[in-house]
Amino acid sequence: MVAKEKQLQNINWDKLTFSITPTRSMYEAHCEIDGEWDEGKLVSYGNVSMSPAAGVLNYGQGIFEGMKAYRSAKNRVVLFRPEKNALRAATSAERVCIPPVPKKMFIDACKQIVRDNIDYVPPRGKGSLYLRPVIWGTGPVLGVAPAPSYTFLVYVSPVGPYFKSGVKCLNLRITNQFHRAAPKGTGGHKVIGNYAASLFPRKLVKKAGFDDAIYVNAANEKFIEELGSANLFAIKDNVLMTPSLDGSILPGITRDSVLIIARDLLHMEVRERSIEIKDFLCADEVFCSGTAVVVTPVGKITTNNAATTINKNKIGPITEKIRKLLLDIQREEIEDPFGWIHPIN
Ligand code: PLP
Ligand code: COI
Repeated sequence: MVAKEKQLQNINWDKLTFSITPTRSMYEAHCEIDGEWDEGKLVSYGNVSMSPAAGVLNYGQGIFEGMKAYRSAKNRVVLFRPEKNALRAATSAERVCIPPVPKKMFIDACKQIVRDNIDYVPPRGKGSLYLRPVIWGTGPVLGVAPAPSYTFLVYVSPVGPYFKSGVKCLNLRITNQFHRAAPKGTGGHKVIGNYAASLFPRKLVKKAGFDDAIYVNAANEKFIEELGSANLFAIKDNVLMTPSLDGSILPGITRDSVLIIARDLLHMEVRERSIEIKDFLCADEVFCSGTAVVVTPVGKITTNNAATTINKNKIGPITEKIRKLLLDIQREEIEDPFGWIHPIN
């Protein structure tokens, strides 16, 4: 309640990048393996302490989420579809034997932490407050087994664009040197190990001058999957296509929102299906989607054989429309036709 009247922090909002700025507080809750989550509370933002034998530290027993709070045109701070993050956190948790956090508790925690750090939410149009809910096995465990106890934590940071280039077109490299996910593996869940595995491939493609790597399917390397931190879309002859969710692709909340916006607001044909690399390279427009990247156009794609320029390395007209509609809904510049906005109050 008091939070709403807090003066904005003295931060250079024009220089925000996708990096950590420490804030006032974080939310923390605990649970034993077969027990219930305790009530949870806000604590000062800072280092966390846990056993060196913690499940998360030794065996990667952890999951996370990514969300954003915006200052909207209605002069309030809002969250975007937090119930979807709550649901995905619960299914990711189940995959690595972490007790799921109930949906109401998850959303309440997110709202509490934004309210307490409301003065860190950037001014309208200058970025957002990124929320990072994590659930970790923090109890000690020596053999490979679920940890005896768990921590649910939400920390926040004001952020700007994910890619240094902002919304300039990305230059991507299709890799078949590495796979992000195996069939029936953990690719469809937001488990922390997926991200550790993406660091080295990303380092190599960045060293070669690309913005990021595009992963292909592990079984036969014929089909496009996604980036290490975003989903992929192609537009051909006014049809919007994205790889179907077959278990190795993360079910992105932005992905789902883009499909709905294209179908219901732009009246486009949308297809979720396997996309062969060769078809992807023939697209009229390509973009990636995610909470951190929002909708970012792709201008160049390089395979082992050749580099293909998409839409003359410019953001395409449909990508631009989808990006604008998404941001307009998220920032309440237009009425939210889908009930996606949750005000912080
Ligand atoms: N794919 C991966 C591997 C991701 O890490 C993310 C980011 O969360 C996404 C896709 C996009 O998901 P969302 O739109 O829910 O942020
Ligand atoms: C997000 O888009 O929120 C993500 O979690 C992707 C990345 C920063 C890991």
